[in-house]
Amino acid sequence: MNQIEIAPSILSADFGYLMRDIESISSECRYLHLDVMDGHYVPNISIGLPVIASIRKHCDLIFDTHLMMTEPEKYIEDFVKAGSDRITFHVECSDDPHGLIKKIRDLGLAAGVAIHPDTPIEKIYPFLEKGACDQILVMSVRPGFGGQSYLEGSTQRISHVREILDRNGSEAVISVDGGINIRTIADVAAAGARLIVAGSTVFKKEDKAQAVRDLKKIAEESIR
Ligand code: DX5
Ligand code: ZN
Repeated sequence: MNQIEIAPSILSADFGYLMRDIESISSECRYLHLDVMDGHYVPNISIGLPVIASIRKHCDLIFDTHLMMTEPEKYIEDFVKAGSDRITFHVECSDDPHGLIKKIRDLGLAAGVAIHPDTPIEKIYPFLEKGACDQILVMSVRPGFGGQSYLEGSTQRISHVREILDRNGSEAVISVDGGINIRTIADVAAAGARLIVAGSTVFKKEDKAQAVRDLKKIAEESIR
């Protein structure tokens, strides 16, 4: 993936009008970011399987599912059934991350590894090897809530990941999640992120489609 993809996160949508909100952006992007929170790994609870399955019936976007939960391996088949296309789990949450990546891939999905801002990048070195996974999600806020401010050190972490992936010849895409807005997006794109998650910057706006277009334009200009 060398082009910029914006993945709007429904965490900041109006859940009472969820499909209306999703339809307002669906012609502007190819991905939809789905945040699953369990109240254990993160101090918040969001959406889960029935909501994803329900959206799937009405939406053709690529479901980029972000599992912020302990024991993710227990639920992978269920997320596949619900309609996920990509599944990213937190490296801190699995005893056998390589086995979990294999499981996700064997079920035909792309597998991603997410890293918490407080976890040293060294922890994901094994997943930056060529072919080790499909996506590296660099969290740029502490996971759990939408609408937080971008943590400045994240840009450097993205550059670091980019450098190692390139050196290893890995084609894994770098995703970034948290605090993305029209001021922060240029730097994350320039540092090498390509699948860029944005929640409040999109769904808290009156004109959500325009918000996606604005983000995409700034990111594209920054990598030209
Ligand atoms: C936070 C979630 C994010 C969240 C981002 O833990 O993983 O996907 O929706 O929200 P914003 O873009 O508002 O920071
Ligand atoms: Zn997320």
